[in-house]
Amino acid sequence: MITCSAPGKVYLFGEHAVVYGESAICCAIELRTKVSVEKSDEIIIESVLGRTGLDHDNHPYVSYVIEKMRQFTDIQGVHIVIESQLPVGSGLGSSAAVTVASIQALNHLYECELSLEDIAKTGHEIERMVQGNASPTDTYVSTMGGVVMIPQRKKLDLINCPIVVGNTHKFSSTKELVGNVAKLRSDFPSVVEPILSNIGQMSILAERLVAEGDYETIGKLMNINQGLLDAIGVGSAELSSLVYAARGSGAISAKITGAGGGGCMVALARENNAQDIAKAIEDTGGEAIITKNTAEGVRLESLHG
Ligand code: MEV
Repeated sequence: MITCSAPGKVYLFGEHAVVYGESAICCAIELRTKVSVEKSDEIIIESVLGRTGLDHDNHPYVSYVIEKMRQFTDIQGVHIVIESQLPVGSGLGSSAAVTVASIQALNHLYECELSLEDIAKTGHEIERMVQGNASPTDTYVSTMGGVVMIPQRKKLDLINCPIVVGNTHKFSSTKELVGNVAKLRSDFPSVVEPILSNIGQMSILAERLVAEGDYETIGKLMNINQGLLDAIGVGSAELSSLVYAARGSGAISAKITGAGGGGCMVALARENNAQDIAKAIEDTGGEAIITKNTAEGVRLESLHG
């Protein structure tokens, strides 16, 4: 049995704007999805969602991965087991992580010799098949790790402060939210296009700030980004409550991460106050996870068992 894992991510800047070619900055985090694979008589996919065969309703990402990987190798039967620390549909890139970890696990099992660039590209193709208009951000960051500027695909320095994620536990559909923003943009292009472009400008400004480790100024820009995400309609009462709880307990910054609507928010913490922020998030009804940036993208965990 071969096991690979891939990380989730948070957006410091740029969700939604990145769909229109604007810049975004994403940060891989120490929460991973593990995928184990071994050859078998039939196709079996096992996760918390159940045990299925090739099943585009219950296991769409892994089912498309198997079909896509058949372009590179002859896959008859394979047993795939998924274990994830990433909540599904929460904006932490769980679908990219399971896609990328599955591709790399099958890549090792069938000796396809795909490079990391090939894995990121194939992962993006699969996300597009399932979600429609998906940007390459999540799959690229999950493959490469670190802090990445998209679409430049530029690696920035690691973010050296604690990261607190707050989960609203409210499910949100990325496809639906991306569709809502597209509609707003086509109804009010002269209003919405500058908002998306301003979001992109924040990533451009933040590139230098990341290199300088100036988290206070990065935080000010992240808070402006939050306001603009609210303006394009991807906020929610639950997300706002957690954002204000985090800021009220001393976070450097707090904003939505991912598609919004529900899912997660992210806060940058100071060295000594991640626990306080986590408690404020929990007291407001969210689930808090304290994590940090990771340099490592998709990786081989074990070749045997
Ligand atoms: C979702 O995690 C991020 C969005 O920008 C969509 C995408 O980039 O594909 C909303």
